[in-house]
Amino acid sequence: MFRSLPTAAAAAACLACALPAAAQFQKPEDAIKYRESVMFVMANHLGRIGAMVQGRVPYDAAVATQNAEIVATMSHLPWPAFAESTPGSGKGKASSKIWSDRAKFDEAARKMQDEVAKLVVAARTNSLDNVKSAFGSVGQACKGCHDNFRNQ
Ligand code: HEC
Repeated sequence: MFRSLPTAAAAAACLACALPAAAQFQKPEDAIKYRESVMFVMANHLGRIGAMVQGRVPYDAAVATQNAEIVATMSHLPWPAFAESTPGSGKGKASSKIWSDRAKFDEAARKMQDEVAKLVVAARTNSLDNVKSAFGSVGQACKGCHDNFRNQ
């Protein structure tokens, strides 16, 4: 009797480990809303750096760094929301290929995170040229995944 409680707690903890996304989202629509929201916020902050890269707003190293750090944080968030139990369901633009070719999808996510981490490093050098080149690689990493895994 005294032993059953901790055992139950451990079992519950293990279940949460195996099914993190299922535990996070009450319904598939919530997961879709979550991943689209993260992508939206990530794109917005990347866009603020893009405006500097394109010369539409003056380059400000501190602002670029701050935004790159936000993008880096966001870059870790969407992936658990693409759990097995949340495919398209008629809403959103996620391609069914995400679930049939998961390794390639995960690789594309890792690639984007790597490029975003390099953008943070570049932003901290206070060099617009460094930011420009790292920004281009991030954009390619976003596009690379969208071309393969996002429906038009
Ligand atoms: C590993 C794949 C992958 C990477 C990398 C990726 N995306 Fe996405 N993105 C998706 C998928 C899939 C969707 C569609 C999600 C859905 O509708 O369920 C999406 C949707 C979006 C959307 C539309 C959100 C909405 O409101 O519907 C934006 C904006 C976006 N991504 C921006 C970005 C930016 C910016 C980057 C790079 C910093 C990026 N994405 C990197 C897969 C990716």
